[in-house]
Amino acid sequence: MGLVRLADTPLRGLNTFGIDARARLLWRLESLDDLPQLHQALRDDARSGHPQPPLVLGGGSNLLIADDPQQPIVQMALRGIRIVGDDGKSVIVQAAAGEAWDPLIRWTLSQGLAGLENLALIPGTVGAAPIQNIGAYGVELRDCFESLDAINLVSGTARSFSADDCAFGYRDSVFKHADGENWLVTSVRLRLSRTADLKLDYGEIRAELTDAHIVAPTPTNVADAVSRIRRRKLPDPAVIGNAGSFFKNPLIETELAAALSAREPGLPCWPSGGQVKVSAAWMIERCGFKGMRVGDAGVHERHALVLVNHGHARGSDILALARQIRGAVETRFGIRLEAEPMVVGAAQL
Ligand code: EPU
Repeated sequence: MGLVRLADTPLRGLNTFGIDARARLLWRLESLDDLPQLHQALRDDARSGHPQPPLVLGGGSNLLIADDPQQPIVQMALRGIRIVGDDGKSVIVQAAAGEAWDPLIRWTLSQGLAGLENLALIPGTVGAAPIQNIGAYGVELRDCFESLDAINLVSGTARSFSADDCAFGYRDSVFKHADGENWLVTSVRLRLSRTADLKLDYGEIRAELTDAHIVAPTPTNVADAVSRIRRRKLPDPAVIGNAGSFFKNPLIETELAAALSAREPGLPCWPSGGQVKVSAAWMIERCGFKGMRVGDAGVHERHALVLVNHGHARGSDILALARQIRGAVETRFGIRLEAEPMVVGAAQL
């Protein structure tokens, strides 16, 4: 297939926010055999004085492009899913980084493998999943993560990362920090189970199963239930541009959460590793932003944590609205929200 090189190329179809930016230079990596060529091309680009490091693009579902990126873009398009280990109880599935996440889940379910069902319908690719330790409905990627392979785009070295190496946290991993920069994830291995240990306690999963008259759910039933809940609550990026939750739910100290709850009755709080996670959506809604629209940048009408592009918003329009929201939440609640998606460009939140 070869390494595909595209100059001055539109990015609108490559980011789920639907931001109409352009890439100076983009390489699409379709085969591992092309890595040496990609590495050389990146070195040449750096020598010509262009800004680095390269930006790795998967499904573009966790990204806000604030300006036209001047650094080169590597679009991950490696494909392939296979079973690489089986001890009769657990099975290791290896998926190439360019595979789409939800179809991977459906493939594992079709093989009778449980573990990923609560993570159904999360947009994006396999390679992006460990970067922010994707999570939903009481499960995170780290719960079934085995290891991953990556290539350093600057040095050209290849290595595997264990779960410990990845340093997973809430929507966080080593790859979001300076010491994990420049790694291109090429494949991810997941440890799945032939016997289901279903996690049904989060949110509306049980109610959704009951409504569907399911008393003894299978992993596929759970994936279907989660998918229905997500479709109801979250906007489909194919219909209206968005990157899922725009802010993380803040983690605060227990005493602060107690004081805040006394002042703001109804604030949803969940204990989390010795701290308390508070609902960013609730705070944003209380500040009056739910359903708000400023030009084509808006806050979704069904979920206050999701910023949307109603058509032709620029990245800077979304960023301006995000700053307004962050300021209002900080003034009322004394908590500074953090963006969940990566912001590309000179301007940051
Ligand atoms: N809520 C509001 N107003 C709203 C929406 C929600 O007050 O407009 C309240 C709800 O009443 C509920 C609470 O906020 O008590 C939590 O809402 P929800 O269950 O929708 O979850 P979330 O905390 O907003 C997180 C993840 C989602 C994930 C869901 C389900 C983050 C940043 N987001 O959202 O992940 O799907 O839980 O597990 O942790 C994503 O990361 O892009 C994402 C969509």
